[in-house]
Amino acid sequence: MKSTHITWQRGSISRQQREELLKQKAFCLWFTGLSGSGKSTLARAVEKELYEQGHLSYLLDGDNIRHGLNGDLGFSETDRRENIRRIAELGKLFVDAGLIVLSAFISPFRTERQLARSILDPGAFIEVYVHCPLELCEKRDVKGLYKKARAGEILDFTGINAPYEAPDNPEIVIDSEKQTEKEAAEQIMQYLGDKGYLRL
Ligand code: ADX
Repeated sequence: MKSTHITWQRGSISRQQREELLKQKAFCLWFTGLSGSGKSTLARAVEKELYEQGHLSYLLDGDNIRHGLNGDLGFSETDRRENIRRIAELGKLFVDAGLIVLSAFISPFRTERQLARSILDPGAFIEVYVHCPLELCEKRDVKGLYKKARAGEILDFTGINAPYEAPDNPEIVIDSEKQTEKEAAEQIMQYLGDKGYLRL
C-alpha cells in the first residue's frame, strides 16, 4: 500500500556541504551487462583506483544486495524491475550522502535504467555498458549458472531465456572481449577525469 500523509524532511546539512567535507563530487557509475560480462570485477578495479586517489566510494553489487536488502526478490520481470528501482533509490541516498556509488547489476531493462537516471540528478548518473558477447560469458561461466540455464534448471536466465536490452546511448562502453580489466578501469578513470568528476 502506498504511504500517504508524509512530508519530505530536509536535513540541516546539504549534499554540497558533505561533498566539501569529503572534497569530492558525488555521482553514480551504473554498470550494466550480462552475467559474467565482468561488471563486478571492473567495478572493484575502479573502486580501488578511486580509493588510491583519495575518493570515498561504495560498491553496490547484485549478488550481495540480493542477500540482504533485496533478499525477497527473485528473477521474474516484476522482481528485476523492483530490484533496480530500489538500487536506484539507494544510490540516490548514497550520492546525497556525498559518496561515489558504483552499482553493478545486470539491470536488463532500458526503462528501469532510465528510471535510475531520472531518480539521480542530471549528470550524476553515468551508464557504463560492459559489453561482452553471450558466447564468451557462457564460455567463462564463472558461477556455473549458464550451464544450469542450458540444462533447464534455471528458467529465466538473462541471455538464455530472459531478455537483456543493451543501452542505446551509454556514457561509456567497455569491450570486455578485447580490453583487459586494467585498460577498462583506466578508460573509466580517464572519462571521469576529462569530464571533471574527480574534482569539486
Ligand atoms: S538483475 O537482472 O535484477 O539486475 P542482478 O544483477 O541483481 O540481476 O543479479 C544477477 C546475478 O544473480 C547474476 O550475476 C547471477 O549470479 C545471479 N542469478 C541467479 N539467477 C539468475 C537469473 N535467472 N538470471 C540472471 N542472473 C541470475
